[in-house]
Amino acid sequence: MTNHDNNNRIHKSEKITTYRVWDKPSRLFHWVNVLLVLSLVFVGLIMLFRKDLGIDALEAKIKLKELHVIIGYLFAANLLVRIIWGFMGNRYAKFSQNIPNIRAIKQYRAALKDGQNPQYVGHNPLGKLAVATIMLTLTLIMATGLFRAGTDIYYPPFGSAVTQYIAADGVDATLIKPYDETGIDKSKLAEIKPAKSFAGKVHLYSVYFLLFLIGLHVAAVIQAERRHQPGIISAMFSGKKSIKGPIEDKD
Ligand code: HEM
Repeated sequence: MTNHDNNNRIHKSEKITTYRVWDKPSRLFHWVNVLLVLSLVFVGLIMLFRKDLGIDALEAKIKLKELHVIIGYLFAANLLVRIIWGFMGNRYAKFSQNIPNIRAIKQYRAALKDGQNPQYVGHNPLGKLAVATIMLTLTLIMATGLFRAGTDIYYPPFGSAVTQYIAADGVDATLIKPYDETGIDKSKLAEIKPAKSFAGKVHLYSVYFLLFLIGLHVAAVIQAERRHQPGIISAMFSGKKSIKGPIEDKD
């Protein structure tokens, strides 16, 4: 949208105020997370459709998993920093200020239906629900991914505990290799299998749910930008929002 279009939409009697909203760590987390999630989806899809793509060798299968897990560590580190920041950051970054509230959502939707246009510096009530759901889903994907990394290819943080557990008597656990049963106590491997496959299923279905949430989030942000809250997209780059008239989330 050009400045000219923007100016046309500004009612002359209402003052525009610019607020600092998203602090640097929040913005950095957001865009690094977008990049890493896209990369993980990309490598994950190759893993899922490996055979259709003609990638049959066991070595290639393991290499793909290793690549996915290494990107996964960056994703996990970024998410953990954001979780810590959720307790330390500015008021708009804090989890305590972003807890979804059903009553507020109902009031917000009723206000929109009524033709009003309530403005928020931070997330609007629906945005709070979306962000909380996305954060919880990301955390579940991280936890199941790390568990899978340990049980599937014996990568940290749980890999060495897993190899020590499944190593046959007298076998050096550090010599155990993924997808190779040499030195493994098969009954112990069978014991961890249900938990391993459960974590794999939760990981995959949470990823599908995340993709659905991403679609919803992007569509909702574009709609809000065009209809009710111009400037919310650029705010995730600049950290600032310019809002015409009064705001709902003053304190
Ligand atoms: C949003 C982030 C993530 C996305 C979108 C994602 C996506 C995927 C997908 C599509 C698969 C294929 C599922 C399958 O083959 O059954 C997969 C598998 C896997 N992911 Fe992730 N993943 C993410 C984060 C992580 C993290 C943080 C880790 C660990 C550091 C991780 C570790 C694994 C492992 C070990 C597998 C292999 C499981 C298997 O072969 O069954 N993932 N992931």
